[in-house]
Amino acid sequence: MIIAFVNQKGGTGKTTLSVNVAAALAKSGFKVLLIDADKQGSASTWASLRQETPFQVVSMARENMARDAMKMAADYQHTIIDGPPHAQEVARSCIIASDFVVLPIEPSGLSTWASDLTVKQVREAQEYKPTLKCGFVVSRKIGKTVIGRDIRAMAAEAGIPILKTDIEQRVPFAESMTMGQTIFEWAPGSPAVSEINRLTLEIMRYGNEDVLTGPEAKTANG
Ligand SMILES: Nc1ncnc2c1ncn2[C@@H]1O[C@H](COP(=O)(O)OP(=O)(O)OP(=O)(O)O)[C@@H](O)[C@H]1O
Ligand SMILES: [Mg+2]
Repeated sequence: MIIAFVNQKGGTGKTTLSVNVAAALAKSGFKVLLIDADKQGSASTWASLRQETPFQVVSMARENMARDAMKMAADYQHTIIDGPPHAQEVARSCIIASDFVVLPIEPSGLSTWASDLTVKQVREAQEYKPTLKCGFVVSRKIGKTVIGRDIRAMAAEAGIPILKTDIEQRVPFAESMTMGQTIFEWAPGSPAVSEINRLTLEIMRYGNEDVLTGPEAKTANG
């Protein structure tokens, strides 16, 4: 499966989640590739802080990179793409290459999700790739912020549901990234680890179901 973490907005947690979901999959024994599709190179910088990485990391931040990304992904069981902020065309390529697009959103941005460029790009991609799945993940959530059921229902109705797992704002996430560690290495047994495990499981499960797909697929599946 190819999973892209994409959001045009900067700083929503794309790289943090990409690295740690890749780590969770590698920990489960999968052969994993992480494509750094951001020319800022945050994921590559993270990797450069280490002797070795639990998964392969390559940098590929070009427009029209979809085909090459898919070709490279064929040698791995799972591929994670860490998407760029702002770079529209690169983001489009990331989406096109994917089976599952995860949009990390901060709780404060929940009300504006529908008009987001990234959502539009996903919809466009779903028009000709109806099997493309997509979900928001609430990221950097502060404490006990409640994500209302009505908001989840609204998102689901719009074809892009909010995943059940929320990722809280937690110091170890930031620390581990700065130290070139995965959350599993930096804070074993922590709540941050269970969040990443739950998110990974949820993505894997949905990836194998017909839910969360585009409008055409829904019709095709009855
Ligand atoms: N759950 C979290 N808890 C605490 N800090 C976080 C969390 N997620 C991300 N951060 C911090 O927020 C900042 C932005 O996170 P990250 O780099 O993952 O976002 P991004 O979407 O990849 O950003 P960009 O758009 O610039 O690529 C980083 O300093 C990171 O350490
Ligand atoms: Mg990033």
